[in-house]
Amino acid sequence: MHPKTALITGATRGIGREIVRQLSARGVRVFASGRDARLLEELAEETGCHAQAFDLARAEEATALYAAAKSALGGAPDFLVNNAGFNRRKAPAAEITAADLDEHYAVNLRAAVLLCGAAMRDMVPRKSGHIVNVISSVVWHQSENYGVYCAMKCALHGFTVSLIKEARPHGVKVTGVYPGGTDTEFRALERPDYLRPESAAKMIVDTLFAPADVAVHQLTFRPMVETNF
Ligand SMILES: NC(=O)c1ccc[n+]([C@@H]2O[C@H](COP(=O)([O-])OP(=O)(O)OC[C@H]3O[C@@H](n4cnc5c(N)ncnc54)[C@H](OP(=O)(O)O)[C@@H]3O)[C@@H](O)[C@H]2O)c1
Repeated sequence: MHPKTALITGATRGIGREIVRQLSARGVRVFASGRDARLLEELAEETGCHAQAFDLARAEEATALYAAAKSALGGAPDFLVNNAGFNRRKAPAAEITAADLDEHYAVNLRAAVLLCGAAMRDMVPRKSGHIVNVISSVVWHQSENYGVYCAMKCALHGFTVSLIKEARPHGVKVTGVYPGGTDTEFRALERPDYLRPESAAKMIVDTLFAPADVAVHQLTFRPMVETNF
């Protein structure tokens, strides 16, 4: 068995960085990405992963990222984790701008969809692979003043459900992950009562290592303090 390979987006901080650490510790050869080249360099030194900065706000960089990962890993990745994402600010509908919509769409939805497409072109003929889209538990409760973020994550959820059905006959696994509040730089305020990023990452990594006969389609988890469901 050759060592597994993985492409992880949003790997400079938070949940993504912990996924890289945990996969590397399990012998997976990882290609990590984000925009902050210095943080990526530190992660590469710490874990031995490949790392390169790409800005997923630009459609062509999503495509270039996949090609760079393939080249560094010596072939298509076994695992793709679309984890990069953000919510810039809470805003009531009356304050949403076209720029807000475009910015969120590009990273939270378009980049993930493009990367899924690129991975499917390799995974379908190979009849194996596992794609994980990190969505959000906001899909299940849709809070007020989160309109743009909710819209993009709900769209990614819809895409992911469709992809699960498309990929299944070809032996490709697809998982939508719906984390609740996690204490990362995702929000300005520290939330020590929320999930630790290590814990959220462990849920995702354990899913990637689920027994071969198990397909995890939806993985929802929350901190015990969360009551918004
Ligand atoms: N934290 C939560 O409470 C929570 C709850 C539910 C779902 N989620 C989801 O979980 C995922 C990870 O979030 P997190 O909490 O770990 O957030 P985080 O600590 O803020 O990390 C976000 C990651 O996304 C990357 N990213 C943002 N914009 C990017 C761009 N234009 N191009 C490339 N990379 C970009 C960031 O890298 P650079 O800054 O280096 O570009 C960073 O590595 C996100 O999809 C988020 O929506 C988070």
